[in-house]
Amino acid sequence: MRLLITGGAGCLGASLVERFVPAGHEVLVIDNFATGKREVLPAVAGLTVVEGSIAERALVDGCFAEFRPSHVIHSAAAYKDPDDWREDAATNVTGTINVVDAARRPGVARFVNLQTALSYWRSEVVPIPVTHPLRPFTSYGISKTAGEAYVAMSGLPFASLRLANVTGPRLAIGPIPTFYKRLKAGQKCFCSETVRDFLDMEDFLAVVDRVLEDGAPSGVFNVSTGEGHSIEEIFDLVAAHVDARPDEPVPVVAPGPDDVPAVVLDPAHTHETLGWRARVGFAETMARVLEWYDAHGVTDVYSHLKAPR
Ligand SMILES: NC(=O)c1ccc[n+]([C@@H]2O[C@H](COP(=O)([O-])OP(=O)(O)OC[C@H]3O[C@@H](n4cnc5c(N)ncnc54)[C@H](O)[C@@H]3O)[C@@H](O)[C@H]2O)c1
Repeated sequence: MRLLITGGAGCLGASLVERFVPAGHEVLVIDNFATGKREVLPAVAGLTVVEGSIAERALVDGCFAEFRPSHVIHSAAAYKDPDDWREDAATNVTGTINVVDAARRPGVARFVNLQTALSYWRSEVVPIPVTHPLRPFTSYGISKTAGEAYVAMSGLPFASLRLANVTGPRLAIGPIPTFYKRLKAGQKCFCSETVRDFLDMEDFLAVVDRVLEDGAPSGVFNVSTGEGHSIEEIFDLVAAHVDARPDEPVPVVAPGPDDVPAVVLDPAHTHETLGWRARVGFAETMARVLEWYDAHGVTDVYSHLKAPR
């Protein structure tokens, strides 16, 4: 493959690079390092890194014209400041349009888009089926939902993967790195009264392999174990791992106005259509990511949620 990965310096992007470059594929990454880090991308043959924003049409068109990708994984996304609507729209809407439109040139066999479950709104149906109506209500969710709609409208052979919380190396968002970092530093934590589904990086990479195959079905897919876990359960696991013994029970607070009580995606349609299913159990997924933090530490932690007042 000649694989173009947007956002290739991010958590998922870097794991994709680590998978595809050693396997002998030519990879081109476009990243502006807004949340990704240059140093996670090794200087090796087979990997080209272009620093810049996908919001710049000329830059995107130039990369496609020169690199001539056969496959595209669109992983770049903006989310780190929930009040910066313009940046979210520039990257997640305009940037996605630039990447999708450039990919409509001859030669692109598969286009993979990575999508957030925040497109579904606060569903009372749990697990949430892929047919559930979309009603995003945050800047990240709204802009990512618009981006996915352009992908679906493009006429490209595409897969848009609506992801559970993918958990693995470099994870820098959500409760696991937050608790790990704070507990290690002896800081207090709180848990929101919410439930999330967690997917191992290995299972994420397996579904990407599947949707990159020639003739793979096009469409939108929930990618999840279908199993929910409370944030308090995550806290207890992380606290036990780092041997933290807080004096008082961790406070559990109601979800904020931009949060969702339960995000657990129903993968049934994905099982049937792609023949993929998650293989790694929750306990193993947690153990793997905590061991990774033991070896490499946690750096910056980002959130698309506003900090509670
Ligand atoms: N990690 C998850 O569990 C998860 C869940 C749902 C959806 N997603 C989606 O998967 C994708 C990757 O997420 P991630 O967790 O790796 O996040 P990440 O922040 O680690 O990676 C995103 C990458 O995009 C880059 N980027 C941001 N704006 C850019 C721009 N304008 N031009 C070029 N690059 C830009 C960032 O620097 C970063 O390297 C995103 O599209 C996200 O919406 C991830």
